[in-house]
Amino acid sequence: MSQNKNPGGEQWASRIGVILAVAGSAVGLGNFLRFPGQAAQNGGGAFLLPYFISLLVLGIPLCWAEWTMGRYGGLNGFHSAPGIFSTLWKNRLSKYFGCIALLIPLVIYMYYVLLESWCLGYAISYLNGDLMKGSDADAYSQYFSDFTGQSENGALLQPSGRWQLGLLLCTFLFNFALIYRGVSKGIETFCRIAMPIMVVLALVVLVRVLTLGTPDPSKPEQSVLGGLGFMWNPNYEALQNPQTWLAASSQIFFSLSVGFGVIINYASYLKRNDDVVLSGLTSSSMNEFFEVCLGGLITLPAAFIFLGASAGEQGTFGLGFVSLPNVFAVMPGGRFFGFLWFFMLFIAAITSSVSMLQPVIAFLEEGFGLRRHASAALLGLISALGCGFVLNFSENLLALDTFDFWVGTVLIFLLALVQAVIYGWIFGIEKGEEEAHVGAHLRIPTVVQYLLKYVVPLYLTGIFAMFCYNNVLSSSKEIALVEAAIADSLNDENAQAQLQVAFPDYVKDSYSTMQSPTEEKSWQIKDEDELLKFFIAKKEDGKLALFEHVPGYLEKIRTDQVVFSSVLFISLVFGFLLLMVHIAGRRWEAQGRISYES
Ligand code: ALA
Repeated sequence: MSQNKNPGGEQWASRIGVILAVAGSAVGLGNFLRFPGQAAQNGGGAFLLPYFISLLVLGIPLCWAEWTMGRYGGLNGFHSAPGIFSTLWKNRLSKYFGCIALLIPLVIYMYYVLLESWCLGYAISYLNGDLMKGSDADAYSQYFSDFTGQSENGALLQPSGRWQLGLLLCTFLFNFALIYRGVSKGIETFCRIAMPIMVVLALVVLVRVLTLGTPDPSKPEQSVLGGLGFMWNPNYEALQNPQTWLAASSQIFFSLSVGFGVIINYASYLKRNDDVVLSGLTSSSMNEFFEVCLGGLITLPAAFIFLGASAGEQGTFGLGFVSLPNVFAVMPGGRFFGFLWFFMLFIAAITSSVSMLQPVIAFLEEGFGLRRHASAALLGLISALGCGFVLNFSENLLALDTFDFWVGTVLIFLLALVQAVIYGWIFGIEKGEEEAHVGAHLRIPTVVQYLLKYVVPLYLTGIFAMFCYNNVLSSSKEIALVEAAIADSLNDENAQAQLQVAFPDYVKDSYSTMQSPTEEKSWQIKDEDELLKFFIAKKEDGKLALFEHVPGYLEKIRTDQVVFSSVLFISLVFGFLLLMVHIAGRRWEAQGRISYES
């Protein structure tokens, strides 16, 4: 590493150390659980096309921009996004945009650390044999539901949840112990040890999966090749669905930790001549190796070999914490491999979660002059509150899901957009290009600068708008259709009985409240909480169709207390951070550390 000092107190000790730390932040549960689930649900091998386009057009360019802006901010004396943005954009507002880059890692940490403790718990459960439940698939969903307290809110705060609480506490404290030791002694040292261990563990499990053969000769299609085919055979039709493109870009952001506020913070501890171009590329490539070569070859193929095509329908948590435990329990040597797998996930998750704490620690220290123990204590308190919130509202993991949607997906798009605009339009691509190449051994093709200025903001705006349209607003899905004859004979008096005959699986006395047709001429089926579940309407061709009502997030906020409280909680944390940023900004102005262009 070069000798030109970074003015802050903290520094990375070596180039490989910082690359491993950034790669460690990127490689996490997203690579091993989220990626295979997303690929399976969005066209298998065809998913790789939008995925790699997103990587090349959005992921790597933004990653370089974050490395460049981070080092620039660090050399100007700031390590947190509010300060860094103030050096890039000399405007009173810039620091408040930086606040988003504090909120994202902080809120994601609040639920990510919980997932981490599940991985630790599952690893231990293999060691002591608790998870060796044979081939009874329901036993694994029951185990997962009990372990995560999904039956009712507050389930894990009862005496029966002591084990889970203990695991969470240990995981939480371990993260803080690393952070407390600092960037180089804590994060860097841990990542230097953890990353090679992860590669070895993942390779051992990969070899096991690829040598499984055809465990059940009566189902010859459930073989290793069948599993790989299931994951990777392209379904090109999926490419016509905007959802595939959205899923690919949000996977790239989540996985690379781009738009997280993390890379910009890590890069701020670099020295002037440290190579940001090669480091950014190397850490992104490492992440892709873990994601496509390890995550893509292990998780879903293994699940398919034992469980068949149903393995792909489970979603991320179902795949990771229900299907895979089932798979390990029945494969030869599964107890040992199950332990290795979940322990590897635990380490992968720690290297990510620790990176989510550092941006806020840096802010508290440089914004208020707090010492490490005070900043760690304050951050510990705030993140423990959030973690307790997610833990308490555990029914159907609704709080976790809401945090993940609004912060882990929506805000990430927004921060990526803000950063692209600051880099491309305010800092300027000419200055950015020059800055990025200081100390660089590679040249970034100039076209990347134009991508950052024009294509990335447009692409992100488009994706963001589509994403909100698809998920924030409610929609409906046609799931059954009957002939026109029934539709014609329907009348208000006996509609319920007739509809019961037409759609026996959905219209049941015990379940639904039929309502007379509304203005839209539809019959609504509501649940016991009076929430709309399905509706039946006549189509233009005279047939009668049953639609599933898919509530968007705005409707969920209106109708569900937990979703409402979760959004309120996130807003309160954001409000608190804005206030802190405002006060810190005043201090920086008074100290002459930031100035504004009139
Ligand atoms: N980038 C981290 C992951 O993939 C958050 O899990």
